[in-house]
Amino acid sequence: MTDSITITDNRTGESLEIPLHNGGVDAAEWRKLLPGIWFHDPGLATTSGAESAITELDGDNGILRYRGYPIEQLAEHSSFLEVTYLLLKGELPTKAELDGFVHDVTYHTFVHEKFRRRMYDAYHYDAHPMGLLMSGVSGLSTFYPDSKDIGDADKRMENAIRLIAKMPTLAASAFRHRRGQPFVYPDNELGYAPNFLKMMFEIGSPYEVDPAFEKAMEILLILHADHEQNCSTTAARVVGSSHTDPYTAIGAACGALYGPRHGGANEAVLQMLDDIGTYDNVEPFIEGVKAGKERLMGFGHRVYKNYDPRARIIKQAAYDVFAVTGTNPLLDIALKLEEVALEDEYFVSRRLYPNVDFYSGLIYESMGFPRDMFTVLFAIGRTPGWLAHWDEMLAQNSRIARPRQLYIGASERPYVPIGER
Ligand code: SDX
Repeated sequence: MTDSITITDNRTGESLEIPLHNGGVDAAEWRKLLPGIWFHDPGLATTSGAESAITELDGDNGILRYRGYPIEQLAEHSSFLEVTYLLLKGELPTKAELDGFVHDVTYHTFVHEKFRRRMYDAYHYDAHPMGLLMSGVSGLSTFYPDSKDIGDADKRMENAIRLIAKMPTLAASAFRHRRGQPFVYPDNELGYAPNFLKMMFEIGSPYEVDPAFEKAMEILLILHADHEQNCSTTAARVVGSSHTDPYTAIGAACGALYGPRHGGANEAVLQMLDDIGTYDNVEPFIEGVKAGKERLMGFGHRVYKNYDPRARIIKQAAYDVFAVTGTNPLLDIALKLEEVALEDEYFVSRRLYPNVDFYSGLIYESMGFPRDMFTVLFAIGRTPGWLAHWDEMLAQNSRIARPRQLYIGASERPYVPIGER
């Protein structure tokens, strides 16, 4: 048996044998037999748009690996900047390499003062922080025109480091704008996560970072760092394939992440738990989901047809934070929802399990983050993944993304003057 498939065009009786390569069938091959025929896949659920060496998912077995390293081991032993180095460069760094990388990120955390102050001032006080973040990320492209030199690998890495460094500053500034509080400048004496927490929460007196919060932040950032060809990473690749600069491509990725079906789900989960309100309302809510009236936010996944391994790790990290903050009152409702759903045929038959967003918001809220900051936190974590994919796509000299369509509209017809319509 050869590792290939044969397809036959029954209109002509012609057949073509096509080798299977890296788990896929090359479109350039079947196109020889079927010119002008397109494989229709509107949600891209069964289509590969890239060959990637960054992240491997096994949805049936709930496996997630960054550059071959299991997420469970990285969450337990690594740091967010070490994982960022791994995603961008493909290998775990030596101590000297990591120290150099951390230094480079640390010394790029500042955002142009005029830009940061005047951009945010242009927005209402209650502007959603994701709207501010998207503007901030895309606007950075105007400060670094050399970032358009996307053919230079060193320039790509330099701007990737710049953006990774500035995301916490932009994010914390959006939060401070919302609260009407003065901006807090980055503190280069602090690590990535503690510096972010300080920029977020320091007010009036020095902010002491609780070690449990720092550890939880590191774990959450690591767990969100990449997830192969998800919606927002696909947006980064598609927009980046036009050879625009990285800030514009990642600004587009932020836009994709904003949606409640994707990164906006963590905020939607807390709203759902609030709407359910009490333990006794869980069963009626689940009936509403099964009747198609509601969606169980934080459940389901295009790839995972098993428990999302990140959800399991986050659930444990939540208890470590709650040991400091006290349990989030919505946790009991979330646990009951999970218990009921995992035993109900509707969810079991559709292989719907908790995903990364189901428990993350409970931790964020207990740490003091307002709900409209949850997707911003997701974006900070996902930025290294977006940039690693953007860089990989360019290093592979990929073609501009331009899918085909199945036209179902009107055939040719003559223009009708308005008086005759
Ligand atoms: C993220 O792609 C990634 O990797 C994303 C992500 C990452 O790290 O980048 O993992 C992050 O986006 C996680 C997902 C966060 N979103 C949510 O929690 C929102 C709720 N989930 C759903 O909207 C849904 O599950 C999706 C969007 C996540 C996946 O949608 P799919 O793959 O298109 O699945 P589907 O809508 O075709 O659902 C299949 C069936 C349908 O029922 P039937 O039409 O067959 O009867 O399952 C049902 C759906 O109605 N279903 C749900 C459900 N999710 C799917 N029913 C109730 N509640 C849900 N949450």
